[in-house]
Amino acid sequence: MNELNGKHIVLGLTGGIACYKAAELCRALVKEGATVQVVMSAAAEHFITPVTMQALSGRPVYGSQWDAREANNMAHINLGREADAILIAPASADFMARLLHGRADDLLSLMCLARPMDRVPLLLAPAMNREMWAHPATQRNVAQLRSDGCTVLDVGSGDQACGETGDGRMLEAHEILDDLIAYFSPKTLLGQQVLVTAGPTYEAIDPVRGVTNLSSGKMGFAIARAAHEAGAQVTLIAGPVGLPTPRGVARHDVRSARDMLDATLALAASATLFIATAAVADWRPARSAEHKIKKDGSGQAPQLHFIENPDILATVAALPRALSGALFCVGFAAESQDLLANAQAKRARKKVPLLVGNIGPATFGQDDNALLLVDAHGASELSRASKRVLARQLIADIARRLPA
Ligand code: CTP
Repeated sequence: MNELNGKHIVLGLTGGIACYKAAELCRALVKEGATVQVVMSAAAEHFITPVTMQALSGRPVYGSQWDAREANNMAHINLGREADAILIAPASADFMARLLHGRADDLLSLMCLARPMDRVPLLLAPAMNREMWAHPATQRNVAQLRSDGCTVLDVGSGDQACGETGDGRMLEAHEILDDLIAYFSPKTLLGQQVLVTAGPTYEAIDPVRGVTNLSSGKMGFAIARAAHEAGAQVTLIAGPVGLPTPRGVARHDVRSARDMLDATLALAASATLFIATAAVADWRPARSAEHKIKKDGSGQAPQLHFIENPDILATVAALPRALSGALFCVGFAAESQDLLANAQAKRARKKVPLLVGNIGPATFGQDDNALLLVDAHGASELSRASKRVLARQLIADIARRLPA
């Protein structure tokens, strides 16, 4: 998916060892469909060459405000005017301090100062030693830059090139890419607290065996990501799946349906939107053996007795917050046939305003899906697409249904 199709990004590099990550970032931006114009400070050129950045971006790199290639000799104006965003990665402590004071003594700072603030956002990915990052001067500068309208991204934590360990590493290229994509997403869920359940649950038979299902969690994770991109605070309650946590999303891992219910009820108290995508196991063994159940030599399989699990969605939809309209609940329906009729019946049974039907066997584990949205007025389809695309469409649809 070319998530940055049609976007023109000016990628600024300032001095820091994290310049090596800027090469990967440049490549990732181009791969997502963006055109990338690299501008480098003199210090950045000590860490990586313009030749490398030119090869990766496919465009000559700019470094000087006196660059005669520009017909009007105003690279600082021309470069910024064309951009959909200026992204400085790495942004050094010194560069941020200079930006803060409106200094304009090299091309990069000059271009940032001359950018039309109302239409060209400036994003900074800081990179520095942990003491420099923690210093009150840097923290003051970050706060001031934010209030001046810059978007200062987080820093990573871990081993630093200097041998120390702590906060201040530049985010990885894929993290900066995700943040940039999120930045461009319409903020349709601003101010919403979103709770998403995802994946299967696992109901233990004994310490080594259990009952589960084929849900991969991909749809729920994509929805959590799309909700975060739309500006919501998102918590994801995930059954046992091996998927990476979407950036900016808080995650609680659970195993059984009852664990999922407990986690959901604790968080539902402050949520404004609940999206139940989890394929919760309907039944669990009546008792889970403390030790592995052994064959007894009789040739007889053990008799397992099942009891029904609590219905998380129906429980949440019956909370006073949901009944009063403070919490909007969306259910999913995994069916194997008669999607419309089953989804309508399920919506009525669970008492939710919106239920999203899909054919379970056709979608579990896949990267694409097709959805049928069922509400009190009828049904509409989101035709087959990647779960990423569908998640965004669904979030946009849900946002229109929320009380103003
Ligand atoms: N769900 C839930 N708790 C359960 C079972 C289901 O929260 N114990 C939620 C799912 O997350 C989904 C919706 O209810 O949003 C429907 O789930 P689905 O498995 O399709 O249906 P069931 O309720 O299990 O009904 P059936 O087995 O009859 O299809």
